[in-house]
Amino acid sequence: MSKVHIIDHPLIQHKLSFIRNVETGPKDFRELVEEVATLLAYEVTRDMPLEEVTIQTPLAPARCKVISGKKVGVIPILRAGLGMTSGILKLIPTAKVGHIGVYRDPETLKPVEYYCKLPPDVAERDLILIDPMLATGGSAVAGIGFIKQRGGRNIKLMCLIAAPEGIAAVQAAHPDVDIYVAAVDERLNSHGYIVPGLGDAGDRLFGTK
Ligand code: PRP
Ligand code: URA
Repeated sequence: MSKVHIIDHPLIQHKLSFIRNVETGPKDFRELVEEVATLLAYEVTRDMPLEEVTIQTPLAPARCKVISGKKVGVIPILRAGLGMTSGILKLIPTAKVGHIGVYRDPETLKPVEYYCKLPPDVAERDLILIDPMLATGGSAVAGIGFIKQRGGRNIKLMCLIAAPEGIAAVQAAHPDVDIYVAAVDERLNSHGYIVPGLGDAGDRLFGTK
């Protein structure tokens, strides 16, 4: 069974409150989502392997640690995952970025897949799949499936807000994928929206409503 990491750092909780606020407009919403993505990425990468190297300081040689050659892939689920991408790239600028296009049919709430472009060496990378919202879990389950079909194995899922239903769906379909999330909310409403949540993440990021 995969683990659920709830990252409740005060800075993340503080910024998430502004993200949730209906009065927050697209400019501030985008900036805050990017900032929280950076803070979450700090925790998601906590187990990155290190190796020792010798560095010459101005005074003497020093044994130091650097991240050992493991390659990272960041994969936003379109559209809303795009809002988190630059936040992670600030910490890991050498990561390659893949894109998965999935949207939820508003009637059936089932994921509709329309795009997938991943780095060709996806099988060799540590992969972080990103989407602000994990609601029914359909989009994330489909996205992880796409990655696995193309050989990706070492996958973590990073979200801002999850519903218990979405967590259960990912754990059932992909028990090898750990979930990192800033908050687990109460429930889904009858339209599949997370309550209290933040509304429609894509619309709030891109001002489409
Ligand atoms: C949102 C969100 C997730 C999905 C979550 O995308 O960004 O991808 O819903 O819901 P689920 O867990 O029930 O699948 P949406 O379908 O609104 O597409 P968009 O980002 O293109 O607007
Ligand atoms: N997608 C969103 O953008 N928000 C939700 O609450 C659920 C799915």
